[in-house]
Amino acid sequence: MVFGMENVMNKAADITDIKQEIIRLKKEKDVLILAHYYVDGDVQEIADFVGDSFALAKRAETVEQQTILFCGVSFMGESAKILNPSKKVLLPDLLADCPMAHMVTTEQIAAMRREHPGIAVVCYVNSTAEIKAVSDVCVTSSNAVKIVKKLGNKEIYFVPDKHLGHFVAEQIPEKTIYFNDGFCPVHDAIKLSELTAEKEKHKGALVVIHPECSSELIALADYTGSTKEILEYVKSSASMEFIVLTEAGILYELQKNNPDKRFYFTESIPICNDMKKITLEKVYASLLTMEHEVIMTEELIREASASLMKMLQLAAE
Ligand code: 13P
Ligand code: SF4
Repeated sequence: MVFGMENVMNKAADITDIKQEIIRLKKEKDVLILAHYYVDGDVQEIADFVGDSFALAKRAETVEQQTILFCGVSFMGESAKILNPSKKVLLPDLLADCPMAHMVTTEQIAAMRREHPGIAVVCYVNSTAEIKAVSDVCVTSSNAVKIVKKLGNKEIYFVPDKHLGHFVAEQIPEKTIYFNDGFCPVHDAIKLSELTAEKEKHKGALVVIHPECSSELIALADYTGSTKEILEYVKSSASMEFIVLTEAGILYELQKNNPDKRFYFTESIPICNDMKKITLEKVYASLLTMEHEVIMTEELIREASASLMKMLQLAAE
């Protein structure tokens, strides 16, 4: 019993030490730490800025420090590098990758362009730099509807996420939207039966959902939005209970902002194993060695930047 308690105390002391070392090292080495809401709470705590994909892209563009250390998956590190190429970008685990980012190919896009001249290719930011390089505009879950509406093109090819694509299409019936069959394995795995079970257990709770979930779940939700939008909605809501249909890392910020509110996840608890690859230990190791750098050719950076820059421009208008 005593032995067990000592272990817990040692672990807590280790974590406190490692956090202090990270805070010291990032200052000493002129590093800005960016983090997504899906990484562990301990990692979010040592970050200088935590955001959804759009807020992170905007923040990456204006970093003054020499180095950006990105606590997220590889498309996020790539986007930071594309938007601010003179900076060194570190990703503490270069194998942290979003499976959905690889669910469309440049060949599929080329074939679609041949079949539908005049089509606009809209890529979700959860895509590789190679896909961004052959797309007309990039979007995130917080600005996809706004940006697709603004495009002059009547025909749109939305890649790679079929669920976000359908969410956008529902709100813009005047456009013809073609979908790819990509999806986020974490959000796609949330079952309708799990949601109905939670609704049964927590009758007064509001349902908040990420648009990477399927449309049958979105139809039952009270609010659909990006991680940041969900956080804003919950904070401003008078309701005290929420069923949260997105990755569980968001709980850290939800609880921090709303200590008196209660949050319920579906029984299988959505966890993104790739986001969880970014541990405090790996952040520390990366800062210490300044290794695990995101490397891209100048050509790919140049080619991929147009769609990302167009997103920033259209989102700001
Ligand atoms: P947002 O933070 O933009 O909502 O993105 C969610 C996501 O799945 C990131 O991989
Ligand atoms: Fe990709 Fe889904 Fe993980 Fe986001 S949560 S990084 S979309 S697998």
